[in-house]
Amino acid sequence: MRPGNPWPEVEYLVGFRDDVRVEFDATSVNLTTSVSTFAVRLPEGRVRDALAALADDLVPTDKALNELGPAERVQFQRLLGRIGRLLVYGVLIGGRELIRFEHTAQDVGSKAETVQPDDLVKLSRFALCRSRSGMLVLESPLAKVRVLLVHRAARELVASLADVQRVDDIAESAGGDLAVAEVCALLGVLVGAGFVEVRPAGEDFDGEEDPVLRQWDFHDLLFHSRVRSGRFDEPLGGVFPHKGKIAPRPAVKPVPDGPSVELYRPSLEDVTQRDPGLTAALEGRRSFRSYGEQPLTAEQIGEFLYRVARVRTHFVPAAGGEPGGEIVSRPYPTGGSAFELELYLTIQRCAGVDPGIYYYDPVGHRLVLVNDDPQDRRAMLEVASVSTSREADPDVLVTMTSRFQRLSWKYRGMAYATTLRHTGVLYQTMYLVATAMGMAPCGLGIGDSDMSARVLGLDYLQESSVGDFILGSRPPGDPGIWDQEQGWEWVNDPEWAAWAGSVLRRH
Ligand SMILES: Cc1cc2nc3c(=O)[nH]c(=O)nc-3n(C[C@H](O)[C@H](O)[C@H](O)COP(=O)(O)O)c2cc1C
Repeated sequence: MRPGNPWPEVEYLVGFRDDVRVEFDATSVNLTTSVSTFAVRLPEGRVRDALAALADDLVPTDKALNELGPAERVQFQRLLGRIGRLLVYGVLIGGRELIRFEHTAQDVGSKAETVQPDDLVKLSRFALCRSRSGMLVLESPLAKVRVLLVHRAARELVASLADVQRVDDIAESAGGDLAVAEVCALLGVLVGAGFVEVRPAGEDFDGEEDPVLRQWDFHDLLFHSRVRSGRFDEPLGGVFPHKGKIAPRPAVKPVPDGPSVELYRPSLEDVTQRDPGLTAALEGRRSFRSYGEQPLTAEQIGEFLYRVARVRTHFVPAAGGEPGGEIVSRPYPTGGSAFELELYLTIQRCAGVDPGIYYYDPVGHRLVLVNDDPQDRRAMLEVASVSTSREADPDVLVTMTSRFQRLSWKYRGMAYATTLRHTGVLYQTMYLVATAMGMAPCGLGIGDSDMSARVLGLDYLQESSVGDFILGSRPPGDPGIWDQEQGWEWVNDPEWAAWAGSVLRRH
């Protein structure tokens, strides 16, 4: 980082954010937002007066501090540090408030940097501009603050940063009525906060980006910064943001219309007698991309779905109870017992079930035909095959969809992350059950959510695919993926795999 900004025009203001209610009682101050209350012990005195002043309007930071004694200043600054996410900071340049800052993380340490008129600048590829509560704001997963572009000149300046520019050129073309020194000062603040990149005159941006950053996609880093607490200040977790305004989605999806196929229900006795056990399934589990000559049977599909995904209990709250309390249980776990995932089977080859695309009814344990168009079936299987670099021509494709609003009615900020976690849980459950049953499973990383929504008759925004899994009958012989001749070396206990393989072959 270069030394602090030399441009004299920058002054800072501080105040409470609009959505914070500030209330004092005899010994403390209570700061309330729509989702939390923060109570600070603060008896009457000058520190409390200084805090009270921030509730009325933004005040110059220096003025607030100058009215305090040395010990009070330390106390006041510590207090502002603790409640940083409830405050907004104005940035005055040349006497005009151009931008405001909100802290999105707890530990904001950014300082303005020096920017010279002949420097080159551009907007970071991680920065994003969006409208929030009627205001254009700048955010970035690399920054620990949000910038509110309160002044037209700041909006124009940011809009001009899509491509590399010389600072003095910006002042001329897009800085509105900002002087070069003011442009330098504003850019210095934005560079320090992590929104703008700068290179000294003579250097350029052609050099490779930092190798760590280069390996982050814009959306991945944004997603990472928003689905866990730490870098973002908006509500996160089970805060029921739509309670009382929108009806929650049912725990069980209404079954689509269509001809149905009753599925085989395995008996507990049969399953437990044949079961190779958890350790054999875990240690012997492999991904298969080729299949045996004999296809899977309807009985195997029935047993697989019953053991992986059937609804086994249903809890309906008593009349007049809390909305959203309806939950179910299936063999795999989900956050909040949401069970928002649904399964669709594209069947190409299965003895006893006609080719077609089916919805799995997890309560009635049956397949319901949703699409019998051979071209749509081929399109679904084609994407799955490409996902295996065409190694597999799957007999059965299981498409997992998420009924998104079942989760987002309850969870703010993390609903989609949660559904992806559930998808992973379901992959492993499918792998283990398929392995225990002697089938040939393989999880897939790429599916076409847009095309599959059309083929499955779904509204992309309400329910679309989040995972794909292929299945078939197991080919003869061992897949031999840990062949030493191919470079695999045993690291721990080869006899575990050998044992698991022999157990699975016997079952
Ligand atoms: C989430 C996930 C995504 C996967 N995506 C693909 C894929 O797109 N294509 C593929 O051929 N295999 C895919 N696989 C299978 C992996 O390649 C396989 O699990 C890995 O190579 C380890 O081999 P093993 O499963 O035989 O132990 C995926 C597995 C998982 C769990």
